[in-house]
Amino acid sequence: MENLNTSTQQAPTTHVRSYTLHNKHGMQVTVTNYGGTITSILTPDKNGELGEVVLGFKDVTDYTSEAYLANQPYFGAIIGRYGNRIAKGKFTLNGREYSLATNNGENHLHGGVKGFDKVFWEVEELAAQNALRLTYTSPDGEEGYPGTVQVAVLYILTPDNELVIEYQATTDLATPVNLTNHSYFNLSGGKAQDALGHVLSIAADRFVTVSKSLIPTGELPKVAGTPMDFQTPVAIGARIGQVPGGYDHTYVLKETGKHLKHAATVEDPVSGRCLEVCTTEPGIQFYSGNFLDGSLQGHGGTPYKQHYGFCLETQHFPDSPNQPAFPNTILEPDQKYHQKTVYRFYVCQDE
Ligand code: BGC
Repeated sequence: MENLNTSTQQAPTTHVRSYTLHNKHGMQVTVTNYGGTITSILTPDKNGELGEVVLGFKDVTDYTSEAYLANQPYFGAIIGRYGNRIAKGKFTLNGREYSLATNNGENHLHGGVKGFDKVFWEVEELAAQNALRLTYTSPDGEEGYPGTVQVAVLYILTPDNELVIEYQATTDLATPVNLTNHSYFNLSGGKAQDALGHVLSIAADRFVTVSKSLIPTGELPKVAGTPMDFQTPVAIGARIGQVPGGYDHTYVLKETGKHLKHAATVEDPVSGRCLEVCTTEPGIQFYSGNFLDGSLQGHGGTPYKQHYGFCLETQHFPDSPNQPAFPNTILEPDQKYHQKTVYRFYVCQDE
């Protein structure tokens, strides 16, 4: 692949590489060292036909185009240091106020102007595990954060069509860390016009309410009896009109604890493709692709219109450094950050 000059993001010209993991079912996962981005996932449908199930581009330079940077969708990227928003880019830690880069109105989003999605990662191929190990050192002060953070992300493709993503981090100064992956899914294999017919369930009875600028108000109301309720499977589009702006909310998983637990299941009834998400995290951000506007054309030349794809980002809650009642996101120098998420792809009627 050619060199990529990300001049608009002040990144040096670096050699761009892509890596593809395969398994015996023909499933394929392609990852690039730019942003640690998952650019493609091919999985079989009910007839065994392989199809693209994530939004993205074949050519890595498309992730730095003007149109892409204007829309900022973060397709498939590793998100850090902090997934989602930190209000006004400010927080106080150990008596000191920190000011982060603001890149979403007055707020800090997904790690700032140049988050982990826009840096080059070192990639090591681990053939015995059918895995890729990506590493990045985030320097002290990057985007305003304290401490040097060493990050490692493992992408493993199992023989059971699971994409396992494991994140680890250590720091030399206390700092917020909330890592996730920003893949957008559309399980139709490029055949549906949008993802509104996908049937979703989320193992959560509460969600994080947000203000107009998508900052948590601190309340965690029950989903029951509202269009936010996905405790039993329902089409994404069934009640989306009743949710101003569409779904863009963190769901509070019913089961607590740091073990791997079921978070969500999605079914595309037409292709028969299903996806199950399990995670060690306390929350999952369900984002229904509200800000996609058709200006980007991805795999197969498909224009990515509003709701063409959706994200299921496993993570801690937004703005936790300013919300003492939310689960802690501060990583201390004597601790090891660990998060694991499993995306398992299967054909629905097989189960
Ligand atoms: C956020 C959205 C944001 C999107 C793309 C999601 O994780 O919740 O509000 O627009 O990422 O930036």
